[in-house]
Amino acid sequence: MNNFSKSQALQKRAQAVIPLGVNSNFRYWGEGVTPYMSKAQGAYLWDVDGNKYIDYRLAFGPIILGHAYEAVNEKVREEIELGTLAAMTSELEIEVAEKMVKMCPALDMVRFACSGTEATMHAIRVARAYTGRELILKFEGNYHGFHDYTLWSTYAPVESYGNRRSPIAVAASSGIPKVVGEKLIATLPFNDVEGFERVMKSYGHLIAAVITEPCQGNCGAILPEPGFLELIRQRTEEYGVVFILDEVKTGFRIANGGAQEYYNLKPDLTTYAKALGNGYPLAAFGGKKEIMSIIGDGVAQGGTYNNNKPGVAAAWATLTVLENEPVMKTLNERGGRLMAGIDKTLTEEGLVHSMNGYPAMFTYAIGTDKVTCQRDWNDTEKDYYLKIIDLLIERGVMPDHDAREPWFLCYSHSDEDIDDTLTAFREAVKESKK
Ligand SMILES: Cc1ncc(COP(=O)(O)O)c(C=O)c1O
Repeated sequence: MNNFSKSQALQKRAQAVIPLGVNSNFRYWGEGVTPYMSKAQGAYLWDVDGNKYIDYRLAFGPIILGHAYEAVNEKVREEIELGTLAAMTSELEIEVAEKMVKMCPALDMVRFACSGTEATMHAIRVARAYTGRELILKFEGNYHGFHDYTLWSTYAPVESYGNRRSPIAVAASSGIPKVVGEKLIATLPFNDVEGFERVMKSYGHLIAAVITEPCQGNCGAILPEPGFLELIRQRTEEYGVVFILDEVKTGFRIANGGAQEYYNLKPDLTTYAKALGNGYPLAAFGGKKEIMSIIGDGVAQGGTYNNNKPGVAAAWATLTVLENEPVMKTLNERGGRLMAGIDKTLTEEGLVHSMNGYPAMFTYAIGTDKVTCQRDWNDTEKDYYLKIIDLLIERGVMPDHDAREPWFLCYSHSDEDIDDTLTAFREAVKESKK
């Protein structure tokens, strides 16, 4: 096992002033085994004990170009010299919005926010205001941030979800008002065509929005079955429901125009964060002009930091790199090779598995050759997955220590990093079987 003595000391110190010693529950891996960060550069991350890792967590996905990417930092440095925040709109914000509208096929207009949580919260407000309805339909295992409206049936034990024909929405935290589950949210398994048809037929006319991640980026990178997203598009249109595509993880990651470009899909509203700023805090939601135009016309949306200069400058620089360099091509080639190599090793070692996701954002599940929703995924061998991850971390390769979280690639991962990762992966799998 790696030496974690400095991390252990920091964890103890942190826990005196920060619950669990981390500023997000997802960053806590347990007592004595939670690494604390020293620095990150390119595709690498160092913990405070000096252990170096090829980083596949990439801060839960935002780092699309690389850590401390010079073209991004340079633009941020230049802009913050001119002031970090003002209660006034800058030309740079307009340029970022223009770039987004140009790159993402379903965007006519956008508004900025600071986090993915805010983006989905605002999109839901707008959808409710536009339709005059209140009910939101979401899919089990999808995560749309920390607000109360969608933190349902995300991480709760799947056994509590009830029968798939009449799912029970389960709050993922204490402190969420019960009334939301009773009146404002309905849930379904992802990829459940029959269930979706039934719900839309019986109460589609009461639903304000259907919100979904295009791929289950917070539950094993489960892909949509062919036709599933298209069906959502079709039925939401028929029933006057706003279709919100949550591209917080896929946006500016699986294609320059995200999943809507990848699947040739036109949702009504789309949410972004993560890769938009390559690690600086900027988020956005946007979509059809007809819907977005109601903002300001009796519909409130705001936020002191929505135009924070570091975030806006970082987004400007990140989108400029995406426009001008073969980022997606590189991620597809290197990520594709990594996926294929992992698949090959698992097959050669006789481990039944399924590969899920896209080259820039993927994972695998052990113990089954197909997963289509969180209920299937729950039956996979998560502990065995984590055993392999522990052995990889010991070898300097760091995917997330959570079987739900995908491996993320960035433009700075080199061919050599992929080769080293595949060597470590082969060793780790062999060792896991001893
Ligand atoms: C699909 C999706 N939506 C929303 C969010 C929330 O974003 P944030 O953590 O920036 O609030 C996340 C975060 O992981 C996400 O993956």
